[in-house]
Amino acid sequence: MDSSLDELIAQARDRFAQAGDAATLENEKAVFLGKQGSLTALLKGLAALQGEEKRTRGAQINQAKQQVEALLNTRRGELAQAELDRRLAAETIDVTLPGRGRGVGGIHPVIRTWQRVEQIFRSIGFDVADGPEIENDWTNFTALNNPENHPARSMQDTFYVDMNDAGGLPLVLRTHTSPMQVRYARMNKPPIKVIAPGRTYRVDSDATHSPMFHQVEGLWIAEDISFADLKGVYTNFLRAFFETDDLTLRFRPSFFPFTEPSAEIDMMFTSGPNQGRWLEISGSGQVHPQVVRNFGLDPERYIGFAFGSGLERLTMLRYGVDDLRQFFEGDLRFLRQFND
Ligand code: PHE
Repeated sequence: MDSSLDELIAQARDRFAQAGDAATLENEKAVFLGKQGSLTALLKGLAALQGEEKRTRGAQINQAKQQVEALLNTRRGELAQAELDRRLAAETIDVTLPGRGRGVGGIHPVIRTWQRVEQIFRSIGFDVADGPEIENDWTNFTALNNPENHPARSMQDTFYVDMNDAGGLPLVLRTHTSPMQVRYARMNKPPIKVIAPGRTYRVDSDATHSPMFHQVEGLWIAEDISFADLKGVYTNFLRAFFETDDLTLRFRPSFFPFTEPSAEIDMMFTSGPNQGRWLEISGSGQVHPQVVRNFGLDPERYIGFAFGSGLERLTMLRYGVDDLRQFFEGDLRFLRQFND
């Protein structure tokens, strides 16, 4: 082969080797094999030759062309491999690392209380019921001896829904779980022994009140259930709930339209960090005869007690939380403390 072709091949080898990436290499290819490339020009020059000379020269140029193409392909392969190596190095995955997984959810402290309350009352034979959070006026107020326009209604200012009940009165977000007394008692035969935990709503918002909160209603109606049973049941409940006998109760006279007599239940720890302070935890009382009648029962025959306790309040006392709003802010640092 003539030396100018050897030189051309050497030149191609050099320039291909210097091309550091695929795009540069393809430009270098054009220098030799493109329309204006040097090999292309040589092939075109064959037209001026004849016979043996044309054949020999043509064979030489073609051989040189094949060598340049081979060099090009080799360099393409090298660059592709280098690119692959680079990516593999940059995107390494350590398959021995533990998976990231998904965060595990936890149980909200108030729901924990809810579950514990259910468990304790079930263990002493109470049924567990639930009912609507949007109530009609009769069940939330009137059946509970809280007549329309009675000032006692203002104890529980609430949210009204833009819809009326059958009697033309606006529906309300229930202000307490007490309407469940009425619903349950009208659907079940005595003896009635039930708790009804759930959400309740009032126009209230400060460190100890939230517009949405939770209560648990308790109702025990039979022929011989007295205030003494309320004391016994509730005392045992609190001892089980707080897992201590070191607490004492006080029934402080109060007023609710649906109980007579009525009492606030206060409790006090007799040991531990919170000892010595009375804390209100529940309303309670003996169910008013008119309410027993509204249950569809004869108040001469049936008697019993009811209570309504705040689940947030129970939770705050159990865990020493001082601001109720923390339960509803969704701050995971706060909530995680209850799930370990
Ligand atoms: N429903 C009352 C309240 O929310 C509590 C209560 C329930 C009182 C049952 C007496 C009997 O304040």
